[in-house]
Amino acid sequence: MAEIPEIDLKNIPRHVAIIMDGNGRWARERNMLRVMGHKAGAESVRTVIGVARELGIRHLTLYAFSTENWNRPALEVQALMGLLKSFLLDGLNSLKENRIRLCCLGAIAEMPADVQEILARAMRETTAAAGDSPSLILNLALNYGSRGEIVAAVRILAARCLRGEITPHEITEEMVGNLLYTTGQPDPDLIIRTGGESRLSNFLLWQASYSEIYITDTRWPDFRRENLVAAIADFQSRERRFGKTGEQIRQGT
Ligand code: FPP
Repeated sequence: MAEIPEIDLKNIPRHVAIIMDGNGRWARERNMLRVMGHKAGAESVRTVIGVARELGIRHLTLYAFSTENWNRPALEVQALMGLLKSFLLDGLNSLKENRIRLCCLGAIAEMPADVQEILARAMRETTAAAGDSPSLILNLALNYGSRGEIVAAVRILAARCLRGEITPHEITEEMVGNLLYTTGQPDPDLIIRTGGESRLSNFLLWQASYSEIYITDTRWPDFRRENLVAAIADFQSRERRFGKTGEQIRQGT
């Protein structure tokens, strides 16, 4: 077994976002139906939430269902919605006890009515239970597409321009950022993609501007504590420059 690297608990990424890929392949490699891969993936979700909390990650974003995922076979979509509902209903008490606040990123109003109802309840109750000191903010990206998110923000700003409230020149990055689903939250420091593909798949395109990206071949259903620790160790080995030179970063200027 590969050695688990040491990580610096004082330099834990504040916001980790994960593209949970490889469920289908995990299942196929075991001669199982794709939905069994998603079922196993839901277990990884539970594990990773616990580990994120334990390590001191403050924001965890999981890409659970994209706007493009509606194009999958109806039975697979149905199974994914079922897994989401079980995760929320069976896990609600645990989320509340552990002061984990649930947020949703995406066009939730277009989700099936029963899912919307459960999501609204879970968000309301976890927000109340976590109060002012959530141990973790758990963002589930659901019916999420980054281009759609940016277009919606652009439409709002265009309407403000038409009403004469602002001029196009007054539009700032901050104004756009405040109209995204992640408003009020820091951009992800680290984006992890499991399943080995090297693409962002319409995920947090605006927010990922300076994120460190870590890709692992590990299929999402196999992703465990040691895999998250390995991703964080890799993150900690990077020099984050935000456009500056390496010398400037080392001199703190
Ligand atoms: C991508 O794998 C994964 C998804 C589209 C869904 C992710 C869902 C879960 C992990 C389970 C349910 C979620 C929660 C929050 C309980 P893929 O099917 O595209 O894999 P492949 O590339 O190997 O086919």
